[in-house]
Amino acid sequence: MLEGDLGQFMTPTALSNSVSKFLGASETRGENRAEPACGIGALVMADLRQIYAMQGKDGISRVDYSINDLDQRLVRIATVQIMFHSIRHEAQLKRLVAHNADAIRDYNSSPPFFVATSWRAVLPGQLV
Ligand SMILES: C[S@@+](CC[C@H](N)C(=O)[O-])C[C@H]1O[C@@H](n2cnc3c(N)ncnc32)[C@H](O)[C@@H]1O
Repeated sequence: MLEGDLGQFMTPTALSNSVSKFLGASETRGENRAEPACGIGALVMADLRQIYAMQGKDGISRVDYSINDLDQRLVRIATVQIMFHSIRHEAQLKRLVAHNADAIRDYNSSPPFFVATSWRAVLPGQLV
């Protein structure tokens, strides 16, 4: 699907789930989360899966996630994945902010290309 790709590879789901389970089991982490090189969102999805397993929809509703990738195609896919599953499972995040920036050279200086604080804002009139 990704013509002219940059040689990126994505973490397999089984591995990202294991990492999230390990981190989730070992410590309590904050509700402000970031993935500065998110790819298609493998680690983010696994993290959200773990939060959902441990804290249910209440936990998801407290999560403020910032995602970023240098490659706009990938961060767009990650954004769609997160929003699709959030809507599909009726588990709304507090906020999702997506950036498309070089995390090394443009860190904190690029405006987000997508922000969702509610489904209503993203799909007007479609969801309550
Ligand atoms: C090995 S992939 C991993 C993606 C994802 N974290 C995962 O685990 O599936 C590394 C990602 O970092 C991105 N990347 C590389 N250099 C970057 C930079 N300077 N700023 C932002 N993203 C970068 C690539 O586009 C790629 O999607």
